[in-house]
Amino acid sequence: MVGNASRLVLRKNSIFTISDYGKSVYGEKISKEGQGYLRQWNPKRSKLAALLTKETRFFPFTENSKVLYLGAASGTTVSHVADLVPGGTVYGVELSYVPFLKLLELSEARGNIIPILEDARALERYQFFVDSPDIIYQDISQRDQVSIFNQAIKFWPTIRYGFLVLKIRSISFSRKDNEILRDSVQGIKGMKVKYTVDLKPFHMNTFMLCLSRQ
Ligand SMILES: C[S@@+](CC[C@H](N)C(=O)[O-])C[C@H]1O[C@@H](n2cnc3c(N)ncnc32)[C@H](O)[C@@H]1O
Repeated sequence: MVGNASRLVLRKNSIFTISDYGKSVYGEKISKEGQGYLRQWNPKRSKLAALLTKETRFFPFTENSKVLYLGAASGTTVSHVADLVPGGTVYGVELSYVPFLKLLELSEARGNIIPILEDARALERYQFFVDSPDIIYQDISQRDQVSIFNQAIKFWPTIRYGFLVLKIRSISFSRKDNEILRDSVQGIKGMKVKYTVDLKPFHMNTFMLCLSRQ
């Protein structure tokens, strides 16, 4: 582990983030804890929570991390990542307008989320909003998900750690999971895969690749 997990709590087989905000974002349970709040993080609703339920060795988040988050949707996972980096920033890029409206609302309530309505592929259109990210998290159900990831890590050399959600069925319906996984790992340029975690039973046909520059 390279980061600081002081805002992550593992208790009675459940995981939680410590938050400064006491309002539920997607119906998750919240309780008061010391000066802040304990927010339950549901591994069925969030692939990052599923990963951390299964594998805690890769945790690059620190108090001040700047996270480029591609495929932010309405902010379910973004809200927990924002809890993990209270002095940092989460740049949430989302293509669809409807989930983006909820993300926008979330960002108004919190100080460290920058919502960006854009196609993650169009870096030249949103690069000005993103300041030297050190972590990338990508969860995009597109056939070219590996190429979207490669383009971003090439563009921002400051990125040191990455999470890539591989949605096998978005890449191909007919090919075998292990073939798609192997080709995707081989297709990543500029980062090394440290861990490959199958997210079942929380998310089927979905793998999380945990990556770093060295
Ligand atoms: C599975 S959802 C993400 C869920 C989210 N990561 C979470 O855990 O809360 C995938 C999201 O990627 C978005 N998306 C798909 N293609 C995209 C693109 N090219 N650029 C940005 N977002 C995209 C979709 O609109 C969708 O909201």
